[in-house]
Amino acid sequence: ELYNFRQIGADTKVYGVIGNPIGHSKSPLLYNAAFKHVGFNGIYLPLLVDSVANFISTYSSPDFAGYSFTIPHKEDGLKCCNEVDPIAKEIGAISCMIRRPVDGKLKGYNVDYLGAIKAIEEALGASNGAPASVSPLAGKLFVVLGAGGAGKALAYGAYEKGARVVVANRTFGKAKELASKVGGQAITLAELKDFHPEEGTILANTTSVGMKPRIEDTLLPKEALKHYALVFDAVYTPKLTTLLREAQEAGSTIVYGTEMFINQAFVQFERFTGLPAPKQLIRDVLARNT
Ligand code: ATR
Repeated sequence: ELYNFRQIGADTKVYGVIGNPIGHSKSPLLYNAAFKHVGFNGIYLPLLVDSVANFISTYSSPDFAGYSFTIPHKEDGLKCCNEVDPIAKEIGAISCMIRRPVDGKLKGYNVDYLGAIKAIEEALGASNGAPASVSPLAGKLFVVLGAGGAGKALAYGAYEKGARVVVANRTFGKAKELASKVGGQAITLAELKDFHPEEGTILANTTSVGMKPRIEDTLLPKEALKHYALVFDAVYTPKLTTLLREAQEAGSTIVYGTEMFINQAFVQFERFTGLPAPKQLIRDVLARNT
């Protein structure tokens, strides 16, 4: 698929994804197609960067309007912001940076979690018909597996929506630290196996367990899964992980890891452009290119 720009001129805003490696990223295809679709005068580049600090100080003109961050630069990116959103600060990583037109200052955000939370809310909303104004996560028990970057993001996101958070992690100290920040409970992986969640509980795996090539691995026995109303897996290679397949067989609603990526792309697009994301187009571009 060609990027196919209409016109590049003095008013064109430059965006990009900063990472290393970066060749595999689908983001340039996705954002350029979406910019064109809505008539937004911007381009979005794959940016192979060694030093985020050097890159940011070199490209400091207002035309460089915003960036996405991917592995391994999400933490470095945070250090290069003039201002950081409080949740991104807690998580310790940013997923995007936006230059404020008025003063040229760069503000960092982490919207990874919004992608996952949005996908989970939509799946829950679809099954219980809750009004859009009240999050279907409010008051629910939300079990997060893992306490790394993604675990923190999901735990903060769920907490923000009014859920009661339980964190289960291999390294229990990290589970305790995260749980205390979101007023939640920490449990060990052994305790997780016997954990009896109440009705309507949500389970979100943010560990790498189940990722290719070790696709048979899972942290929960199948019989434990029937207690969960919805299971989300941040792992998306394969799309249908063992955890998700077993959850589906146990009768739970499932949310694929790919939905986290698609939904965070919607959120970032809206922050970059101030325009509603062309959701179907973005889904189509990704489907054609994966
Ligand atoms: P990310 O930013 O994607 O969350 P991370 O910060 O490296 O990545 O975190 C990885 C998470 O997966 C951690 O919670 C890790 O548990 P530890 O804190 O004990 O390291 C968890 N994890 C990775 N491999 C695991 C395994 N084989 N079993 C259980 N947990 C695992």
